[in-house]
Amino acid sequence: MRHIQAQICQHGFVVLFFLLPLPGKGADRDQTPGYTLSAQPVLVASGLCVEIPCNFTVPASRTLSRSVTGIWRRTETPDIVAASTEASMVSEGTKGRFTLTGKVHEGNCSFSISNARPADQGFYEFRIEDGKHRYSYQWNRLRVSVTDLPEPTISPVGELIAGKPITLTCTAHPAPQGCKGNITWGGRINIENIYNYEREDQAGKVTSISDITVTPSQREHNSPLTCTVTYSGVSTNSSITLDVQYPPSLTITVPGHNGTYENKSVTVIEGDTKRLRCEVNSNPVADVSWWRGDEILSETSGQGLTLALQNDYIADTVTYTCLARNTHGSVSGTVSVTVASLTHDKKTNHLIILMIRGLSILALSGIIAVPAVLVMRCRKKRRQRQAEDNQKSSPEN
Ligand SMILES: *[C@@H]1O[C@H](CO)[C@@H](O)[C@H](O)[C@H]1NC(C)=O
Ligand SMILES: *[C@@H]1O[C@H](CO)[C@@H](O)[C@H](O)[C@H]1NC(C)=O
Ligand SMILES: *[C@@H]1O[C@H](CO)[C@@H](O)[C@H](O)[C@H]1NC(C)=O
Ligand SMILES: *[C@@H]1O[C@H](CO)[C@@H](O)[C@H](O)[C@H]1NC(C)=O
Ligand SMILES: *[C@@H]1O[C@H](CO)[C@@H](O)[C@H](O)[C@H]1NC(C)=O
Ligand SMILES: *[C@@H]1O[C@H](CO)[C@@H](O)[C@H](O)[C@H]1NC(C)=O
Repeated sequence: MRHIQAQICQHGFVVLFFLLPLPGKGADRDQTPGYTLSAQPVLVASGLCVEIPCNFTVPASRTLSRSVTGIWRRTETPDIVAASTEASMVSEGTKGRFTLTGKVHEGNCSFSISNARPADQGFYEFRIEDGKHRYSYQWNRLRVSVTDLPEPTISPVGELIAGKPITLTCTAHPAPQGCKGNITWGGRINIENIYNYEREDQAGKVTSISDITVTPSQREHNSPLTCTVTYSGVSTNSSITLDVQYPPSLTITVPGHNGTYENKSVTVIEGDTKRLRCEVNSNPVADVSWWRGDEILSETSGQGLTLALQNDYIADTVTYTCLARNTHGSVSGTVSVTVASLTHDKKTNHLIILMIRGLSILALSGIIAVPAVLVMRCRKKRRQRQAEDNQKSSPEN
């Protein structure tokens, strides 16, 4: 092991020795005739792979032996990133990720990068070593740019309607065949059907696509749906928040009374509660209105509406209807409100008591008409039975 390392160091030294003096050689400032290298600058997304086609020539007077070694190295550092022989020469940072794929003796300097890292960005230079024939193609540096790995896209992000099946598509960033993505979905919504496929473009890049069929319900409104694309070792995701549209539902409550009152009756004590609350759950927001018969009492657009009962309406049993409507449907609920006129009774009793108390004083005055006035008032104001009750209670005082 030590022995090999020593050799590597020696080799590295030799490489440096040959590389460094060249630009200073004055006469060699220009490209040596016959030595050409052709490779296009490459752009690779972090985590993905790329195949870099490359070819080179040597002067016609020179021929390459089968044992020629091709070396790709960084220009900024002495790091060898790929070599056609002696893999041990390759620096740790790129070992196994950079591969010289071309047959060097055929003038093919193609190489590949897999699982690209941001640190791979930079300039690279090709070199051949064939016995004493050694040359660095420093005039044809290759630029490698590493971009962020793009997130997949989810479509459509438009209208999801409760109960209606819809297809959602996740499209991954195009990647070479060698490192194409694998799509998975995450979220609360139940996926009924999944269909994964690929589309290959002219450059040979593969776009992974996944179609899912879902039937959203109100339960999934505002929940996230995530699409994750896993490439060799790296993954990227994107999420949408499901906006599920659904028709309104409503709940009627009466402050001071427990429970819900839609399609029920409630008895309120006069003076205690004069409000009916209609809570509406819908998406999009509903038009909410309170009705008495076919008379509209109050309306709004929102998540609820409180009806303040006017004094006029506090009479017998009155049925109020709350109606909520949005583009997906409408719903109504009624509440029958009976007002118990307890305060009214008390007031009358109080009056009677006062009158009865006054009676003894008046009796002393010898006025006999008082009982008759009492009966008359009661008849006018009260129903027969109540009047009788009052008269019954009067002797007790
Ligand atoms: C050499 O590489 C260049 C650029 O990559 C390409 O256009 C050309 O066709 C290649 N030549 C051969 C003989 O492969
Ligand atoms: C160079 O080598 C690469 C990788 O093996 C190959 O795909 C390509 O076709 C070769 N180019 C030529 C011109 O032979
Ligand atoms: C994609 O991921 C799924 C789930 O993890 C796995 O079963 C499948 O083998 C993967 N496919 C590929 C091509 O990696
Ligand atoms: C999505 O990616 C982010 C990082 O970009 C990560 O924090 C998050 O956990 C990922 N979410 C899922 C569901 O994989
Ligand atoms: C209403 O509910 C609360 C809490 O559940 C309870 O304490 C209270 O007694 C209830 N009132 C009536 C009138 O039922
Ligand atoms: C109340 O009555 C309406 C009309 O009959 C009906 O559509 C609604 O479902 C009922 N609501 C409840 C909670 O019973």
